[in-house]
Amino acid sequence: MSKKDVIAEAKGKLGFLTPGMGAVATTTYAGILSIQKGISPPIGSLTQMGHIRIGDRSDDDQPLIKDFVPLADLNDIVFGGWDPIDDNAYEAAVRAGVLEPHHLQPIREELENIKPMSAVFEQSWVKNLEGSNTKKGVNKLDLAEQLMEDMEQFKKTHNCDRLVIVWCGSTEAHQEIQEVHKSLEAFENGLKNNDPNISPSQIYAYAAISKEIPFANGAPNLSVDIPAIIEYAEKNNVPIAGKDFKTGQTLLKTILAPGFKSRLLGLNGWFSTNILGNRDGEVLDDPDSFKSKEVSKLGVLETILQPDKYPDLYKDLYHKVRINYYPPRRDNKEGWDNIDIFGWMQYPMQIKIDFLCRDSILAAPIVLDLALFMDLAKRNNQKGVQEWLSFYFKSPQTSNNLMPENDLFIQQTKLKNTLRVWMGEEPITHYENN
Ligand SMILES: NC(=O)c1ccc[n+]([C@@H]2O[C@H](COP(=O)([O-])OP(=O)(O)OC[C@H]3O[C@@H](n4cnc5c(N)ncnc54)[C@H](O)[C@@H]3O)[C@@H](O)[C@H]2O)c1
Repeated sequence: MSKKDVIAEAKGKLGFLTPGMGAVATTTYAGILSIQKGISPPIGSLTQMGHIRIGDRSDDDQPLIKDFVPLADLNDIVFGGWDPIDDNAYEAAVRAGVLEPHHLQPIREELENIKPMSAVFEQSWVKNLEGSNTKKGVNKLDLAEQLMEDMEQFKKTHNCDRLVIVWCGSTEAHQEIQEVHKSLEAFENGLKNNDPNISPSQIYAYAAISKEIPFANGAPNLSVDIPAIIEYAEKNNVPIAGKDFKTGQTLLKTILAPGFKSRLLGLNGWFSTNILGNRDGEVLDDPDSFKSKEVSKLGVLETILQPDKYPDLYKDLYHKVRINYYPPRRDNKEGWDNIDIFGWMQYPMQIKIDFLCRDSILAAPIVLDLALFMDLAKRNNQKGVQEWLSFYFKSPQTSNNLMPENDLFIQQTKLKNTLRVWMGEEPITHYENN
């Protein structure tokens, strides 16, 4: 019996649910609907366009990933979501301003049919946002149970075989792990006692895991990155992953920094600044939400450069990240990097990057890939933190407090080797003739 026979087939419909139906989520739905209609190609999506080498180089066997592993077909996806703002996905996409009207018109009807379910929302966690499409409950457990009911109903109404959830909601205020997060028992008591340290995204995660639905977190807030939720995911055999989609400036950082380190070039400064004018930028204008983002963005260089192992090169690195809300730029962020490097005999050099990027355009293929890979992981009986999906995250979640891997190329190798092993093939080590 090959491993392919062991991974359950992707039959029937896959319900793809996003808490948060803003710029990223609606750009994801719109892109997938356009792909379904043959209007646009799935650019940026590893699951759809990526190839994977099998066996020796001389075999020249490089199938598409989607032909190698049994992924759900894009035509079998049905979308749904929750949002405290009552706009349907078409209205939300127009408001987000990412996509041009001529891209939205051909899929307008499908988008209008995606209406947000009422959200579990507390303004104290996202100060710069107001919404009325929200649930009321006697306590947080009651709210979690209402979400579970939504999930059941969605599955029934849309005749889905399976569900998968990717958090595309706003960045919640920064929090450190508290007592209530440390065990499942404490967390469940906290849900009953309305513990103020349990955030809405954690209530969604708890509900998803109760229903055995894989949950990936695209924002930098803790969400599934707490011991209680990890314990629950392992107990209920549910894959989880996070956190913070790796797009834009951090993507470039994790492409460049491994290169500098490979060539043993020193770094003594990396100043990154951004202006963006979408709703995400407005939410990040609040210092508590910005703090979550800052922690997530700052971590990557430390783990790639290992200043403790390379003190002569990296111990004095000054790393600074700024984000400023600037409405005229809308979703088209501008990110500047000034990088101070040094080489042979410590001679200094500078690199300047001005990345005129489109945030949600970079995020959407990540959301799609995460949904398909998390669904695959579930069908392959995986549970707990899915470290092989670090490739997609700025601040990859790990189990057992292991150091995260932030180097994009190592992350890609890990992802592809995981797929090879799952399918009964040899991992590729790149050893001399391999
Ligand atoms: N665009 C990127 O490149 C990128 C990269 C990394 C991370 N992210 C993260 O992805 C998330 C979404 O980004 P966006 O640009 O779509 O933001 P957005 O503001 O356009 O959309 C977020 C949506 O989430 C909703 N929301 C807030 N709290 C909610 C709750 N409790 N339940 C359900 N919905 C809720 C908001 O009403 C809003 O519609 C943000 O957390 C952002 O930091 C985005």
